Amino acid sequence: MSKQMSHLDNIPSTPGKFKMEKSHYVHHRLRWHSSLAKLTFWSFMFMGVILIFFFRSPSTNPLPQDPSRRSLRTYNWGGPAWEKRVRSSARIRSRNGVSVLVTGAAGFVGTHVSAALKRRGDGVLGLDNFNDYYDPSLKRARQAFLERSGVFIVEGDINDSALLRKLFEVVAFTHVMHLAAQAGVRYAMENPGSYVHSNIAGFVSLLEICKSANPQPAIVWASSSSVYGLNTKVPFSEKDRTDQPASLYAATKKAGEEIAHTYNHIYGLSLTGLRFFTVYGPWGRPDMAYFFFTRDILKGKSIPIFEAANHGTVARDFTYIDDIVKGCLGALDTAEKSTGSGGKKKGPAQLRVYNLGNTSPVPVSDLVSILERLLKVNAKRKLMKLPRNGDVPFTHANISLAQRELGYKPTTDLQTGLKKFVRWYLSYYSGGKKAAG
Ligand SMILES: NC(=O)c1ccc[n+]([C@@H]2O[C@H](COP(=O)([O-])OP(=O)(O)OC[C@H]3O[C@@H](n4cnc5c(N)ncnc54)[C@H](O)[C@@H]3O)[C@@H](O)[C@H]2O)c1
Repeated sequence: MSKQMSHLDNIPSTPGKFKMEKSHYVHHRLRWHSSLAKLTFWSFMFMGVILIFFFRSPSTNPLPQDPSRRSLRTYNWGGPAWEKRVRSSARIRSRNGVSVLVTGAAGFVGTHVSAALKRRGDGVLGLDNFNDYYDPSLKRARQAFLERSGVFIVEGDINDSALLRKLFEVVAFTHVMHLAAQAGVRYAMENPGSYVHSNIAGFVSLLEICKSANPQPAIVWASSSSVYGLNTKVPFSEKDRTDQPASLYAATKKAGEEIAHTYNHIYGLSLTGLRFFTVYGPWGRPDMAYFFFTRDILKGKSIPIFEAANHGTVARDFTYIDDIVKGCLGALDTAEKSTGSGGKKKGPAQLRVYNLGNTSPVPVSDLVSILERLLKVNAKRKLMKLPRNGDVPFTHANISLAQRELGYKPTTDLQTGLKKFVRWYLSYYSGGKKAAG
C-alpha cells in the first residue's frame, strides 16, 4: 500500500504514458542529482575535516621548532642606501687593515671579534640571522653596541646564496671570520635539523660563494673542542683522534673540518679552524652554565652540579673571551691568501686547525664557589649524574701549536674573568642594558 501510495505520489500533474515514463526518468535523474550533490557535499565536508585536523594537529615533523627555519624568512636587503651602509662598515681605516665579513656577528664571540677588529681600523661587516635559540633581545643589544662602534650587521642567513653573492659584489672582502653556527650540545636532541642547517649546509653555502669570489678571501672559522669527544688522552692536542664525537653538535663541527679540507684541496681556499674551549665573559650566552648559574643563584633556584661516572669531577677548560679574541685576530693576521680564482685552484693553499683554550681545567663546583663569592649569595647545589646527552666529563687544551704559530697566550684566570662577567651581568640585567658595554 505504501508502495502504491508512493507510486501515486510520484505521478506528475499532467498524466500520460510517455510523460509518465519521462517523468519517471526525470525523477530518477533528480534523485541521482540529489544523491550526487549529497555525495559531493559530504566529500567536501570530510575533506574539510581532514584538512582542519591536519593543520591544527601538532606537526609530526621530527624538526618541529626549528629556529633556523624561521631564519629562512625573507629579509630586506639591497638598495642604494643599504649598499652604502655595507660599504661604509667594511671600509678599511688603517694602513695595513683588512676587510672582514664576520658571520654570527650578533653572537657572543662575533660581537667581541667585530668590535676588536673595528677598534684597530679594519673594515668589518656583520651577518646574522638573529634566530631565537636564546633570547634575541640580547642579540639586538649586542647589535646596538656594535652599531655604536660603526659596525653594521646585515640581517640574513648564511644559506642565502643570493645575499652572500651580493655582499661579495659590493665589498671585496679579504677575510671571512665565520662564527655563525647552531651552538650548544644539549639542544641537538631537541632540534637536530638546526645543526645541519647552520653548521653543515650553511658552511657549504658560504664556502661556495667564497670559492667563486674574486679575489677569494681567506677564511677563519670556529670549530670546537667538542670534536675531541670520547678522547681520553689529556691535554687534548690537535694530533689526537677526533672521530668519536659524543654529540650531533660535535659531529657537525667535525664535518665542518672535513668540508674545510675539501674546499682547500679542490679550490685553493685558505682555511683555518679554531677549536674553542668553553668561552665565557661579558655579553655571553645564556645557555651556558656560568651564565644560567649566575641567574639561578641570584633567583635562589637550585643549580645542577653534574658528576661524572664513579663520582668523578666534571671540569672545563674555561677560556676568557678577550683571550679568544686575541686568538681569532692572530689567526686572521697569519692567514695566507687563498690561491684560487674564478672557482679554480691555482696552487696549494693553507689549511690549519688550532686549539684555543686556557690549559687549566677547573671543576664546575669551583666555578660555582667563585660565583657565590662574587654574587655574595650561597648557591643551592643539586648533585646529579652527568646525563648522556652529549656532554663530556672534561676538556683540557694543549695550546702549544697556537702559541707557536699565532702568538696565542691566554692571560685571564677564571676568578678574574668571572669578576668581569658578573659586573657586566649585574649592570645589563639591572636596567642599564645600554651601558653594559
Ligand atoms: N662559546 C663557546 O664556548 C664556543 C665553544 C666552542 C665553539 N664555539 C663556536 O664559536 C662560534 C660562536 O659561538 P658563540 O658562543 O658566539 O655562539 P652564539 O650562538 O652566541 O653566536 C652564533 C650566532 O650565529 C647566528 N647564526 C646561527 N645560525 C645562523 C645562520 N644560519 N645564518 C646566519 N646567522 C646564524 C646566531 O643568531 C648567533 O647570533 C660558533 O661557531 C660556536 O659553535 C663556541
